[in-house]
Amino acid sequence: MKTKIAELLAEKIEGFDVEKVEQLLEVPPKADMGDFAFPCFQLAKVFRKAPNMIAAELAEQIGEQDFLSKVEVKGAYLNFFVNKTIFVQQVMERATEPGYGKSSMGEGKTICIDYSSPNVAKKFHVGHLRTTIIGNSLYKIFTKLGYKVERINHLGDWGTQFGKLIVAYKKWGSKEAVEENGIAELMKIYVKFHEEAEKDDSLNDEARAWFTKMEQGDQEALSIWQWFKDISLVEYKKTYEMLGIEFDSYAGESFYCDKSKRVIDECNAKNLLEESEGAYIVRLDEYNMAPCIVMKKDGSSIYATRDLAAVLYRKDTYDFDKCIYVTGLEQKLHFAQVFKVIELLGYEWAKDQLVHVPYGLVSLKGGKLSTRKGNIIYAEDILNESVNRIKEIIAEKNPNLPDKDDVAHKVGVGAILFNDLYNQRIKDVVFDWDKIHNFDGETGPYVQYTYARAASILRKRQMTEAQIPGNIDCSVLTDEASIALLKEINRYPEVIKTAADRLEPSVVARYAMAVAQAFNKFYHDNQCIVEDETVCNARIKLLSVAKGILKDSLGLLGIECPEQM
Ligand code: ARG
Repeated sequence: MKTKIAELLAEKIEGFDVEKVEQLLEVPPKADMGDFAFPCFQLAKVFRKAPNMIAAELAEQIGEQDFLSKVEVKGAYLNFFVNKTIFVQQVMERATEPGYGKSSMGEGKTICIDYSSPNVAKKFHVGHLRTTIIGNSLYKIFTKLGYKVERINHLGDWGTQFGKLIVAYKKWGSKEAVEENGIAELMKIYVKFHEEAEKDDSLNDEARAWFTKMEQGDQEALSIWQWFKDISLVEYKKTYEMLGIEFDSYAGESFYCDKSKRVIDECNAKNLLEESEGAYIVRLDEYNMAPCIVMKKDGSSIYATRDLAAVLYRKDTYDFDKCIYVTGLEQKLHFAQVFKVIELLGYEWAKDQLVHVPYGLVSLKGGKLSTRKGNIIYAEDILNESVNRIKEIIAEKNPNLPDKDDVAHKVGVGAILFNDLYNQRIKDVVFDWDKIHNFDGETGPYVQYTYARAASILRKRQMTEAQIPGNIDCSVLTDEASIALLKEINRYPEVIKTAADRLEPSVVARYAMAVAQAFNKFYHDNQCIVEDETVCNARIKLLSVAKGILKDSLGLLGIECPEQM
């Protein structure tokens, strides 16, 4: 419809093509102001007339059109009211085509998303939960748009901390304790190392020596390190399983040790390296940044070296169109430095293909979460607590619900995901259980509940989606609430594109919420199961389309929908 209106206007306005008009067309804030509005301010110069006169003239030239019920002049605006019957029919046709919302814009293009990436031998904390959730949602969004996405878990599995861990293990650890308590035990001996090293600095030398051994390929050092890594991965994978998340690659920092040489060679070839305070750096003063440390004096790599190597490796391996990094805001400088160095190496694509996607902090309202110790919140704890709280709510409100545990899982996890993704990612996230789990609030459970409600109406009608007749006269759906819901449905493909453009899953989360609200209003105003077969069928059909979109859009956030709640 928008395109049709734009075509009509472009014909009448010299120098304006369809695309330009389409960009100018607005959606008025209120339905009584029409479905689309065209502001004529920009035309004043072209026509050398007052905008309101231009609007009036255009209205006259447009005259009657069968897809429009009315064209109204309101000051400098031309307001278009589309023919509802045609609009309804069109949206329903479009939205019931298979794969509604999909696009081919990404065909033949690859996007690497580097996300989650926890640090081995450390527990997965809520910060890592955010990158995991945001990264996973971006993966789903880009996949929907036809891109091939490589999901990369750039594990923090290399560095001097492993030298410390080996020393700590040899001095105070035991195989049994590590096997029994996993990461918790590794964290315990790591803390012990730091306490002891305060008193005895030689421990640090020992740790460095062990890390050097690792870098030189020492069998013993590497087998302990590998064991710690395996143990950590078992725990991470439990969290991933809980979230329904998978990766295509677990090539973490260790994978790039032997690829650092290329980075150093290329830096040297471009004369970029400078020795400074016992390290090799690339100066970035010209770009208002601190220097990027590329190599330690002893030749060992650091975090940035491994990231530089990873960029080059991924470009060769995946030939990406974009490589996206999802981490906390505190790594902004790190990525700016890495991207700049790649550019200075002569890779022009670094400018627009390497993208850092930062996010804000996580906090807990009232600190009521039962954390084990200290104020670090672990992902596993917060997910379990959410699921348990939902279990309690179910036990109290709906004890006979079938598949209670499965529902509690989907709702408990969904509530955390939705809360994380509902606001722009740069904003901080607060865990306030009463808010997150409020079934009437702007929450995951509210949207899921709306979905379950739609599912239950279909059950009542004893109809599966497949049984809804294909040729339905939808012209009865012209009441305000139905139209409002259809307008939301109509927006879906555009919403997904905007979310991808802005790298913002919140665009989809807000949308899912808007569809749920529009659905509830529709359902409140319109009885679905009525005598009149035509009306009944049309409403059921709209209901089932909305239901499908609720599920699909929540799916883009990584959230599942139970059929009953
Ligand atoms: N392991 C890092 C951390 O926990 C995040 C890694 C992000 N990805 C990267 N390529 N540097 O802070």
